[in-house]
Amino acid sequence: MSSSNNQTILVTGGAGYIGSHAVLALKERGYDVVILDNLVYGHRDVVEKSLKVELVVGDTCDRALLDQIFNNREITAVMHFAAYAYVGESVENPAKYYHNNVVGTLTLLEAMQTLNLDKFVFSSTCATYGVPETVPIPENHPQNPINPYGASKLMVERILQDFDRAYDFKSVIFRYFNAAGADPQARTGEDHNPETHLIPLILLTALGKRNAIKIFGTDYPTRDGTCIRDYIHVTDLAQAHVLGLEYLLNDGNSEVFNLGNGNGFTVREMIATAKAVTEKEFTVEEADRRSGDPPMLVGSSEKARQILGWQPQYADLNNIIRHAWQWHQNRHF
Ligand SMILES: NC(=O)c1ccc[n+]([C@@H]2O[C@H](COP(=O)([O-])OP(=O)(O)OC[C@H]3O[C@@H](n4cnc5c(N)ncnc54)[C@H](O)[C@@H]3O)[C@@H](O)[C@H]2O)c1
Repeated sequence: MSSSNNQTILVTGGAGYIGSHAVLALKERGYDVVILDNLVYGHRDVVEKSLKVELVVGDTCDRALLDQIFNNREITAVMHFAAYAYVGESVENPAKYYHNNVVGTLTLLEAMQTLNLDKFVFSSTCATYGVPETVPIPENHPQNPINPYGASKLMVERILQDFDRAYDFKSVIFRYFNAAGADPQARTGEDHNPETHLIPLILLTALGKRNAIKIFGTDYPTRDGTCIRDYIHVTDLAQAHVLGLEYLLNDGNSEVFNLGNGNGFTVREMIATAKAVTEKEFTVEEADRRSGDPPMLVGSSEKARQILGWQPQYADLNNIIRHAWQWHQNRHF
């Protein structure tokens, strides 16, 4: 590991899935890191055993705590992963999502702005686009989210634009497609509870922790009738965050970037690759379509490649599933 470059980055949600990978990437580039996480979904054991950085247990809605964090340390910039991200729950309980994802973020931004801290990397989502009109989806595609989760992220994007105009506050907004895989050294990985993401669900089935994997919809207008999604390795996402941060530290203007791998895979292709990687047989059930699932969601990430020089290292589906499998085997046995 490289030695400290004397810059400290506050990573909110750093005990969670993507945030923990970003912490590893930051440490590898010599940054000091402080995590703020309320541990509603984050994992203290991963922070203590693998990340080995300071963890402040608390909430982005707690302004007094934020002031204390910023006043007691020299924070250079903030990477903001903390949010709730269950689409279905956001439809059932929008207040919870607008409060955590919008009010929590605004509270953080106000605390930063008071101290003239003006560099911010934000986790947005392809869910801000809604149902795509064109694929691969470029950054200038219309944004019409179809659920409160996507809307909460779009509201923050709007707040960031306005903060830039009014206060010269600089942000990099990353709209991720499906984060997938795990740290190649299995130091951290995906462990959501409840789990709703396809790869961990498939791997938990391969491990015998679930009875079957369900395919929702087999009559979509795609190459094998199942939905196509864009999966991007979480270590590649983490790398993009370091590049986004350094772009801001080098006085870059506020920008928005998609992060995906540009290639979609069908649900059946994911299951077939997982069977090959795990060498396990498991039950696959076919079910009706779910409402609100577009047939194909694939993003264009050319802009991140061109402006940030981002070069995903692990785009291959085999790598994604192999790394996730290593992590799941370690985690669940
Ligand atoms: N996983 C994906 O495929 C995906 C895709 C698009 C966007 N995103 C976004 O990326 C970010 C990270 O997602 P993830 O999959 O790592 O989720 P995660 O739940 O694993 O991580 C989020 C972390 O934030 C913490 N947290 C939530 N609200 C908080 C608050 N108010 N204060 C302090 N901590 C709080 C949780 O405890 C958790 O550790 C989220 O903002 C999510 O919306 C994720």
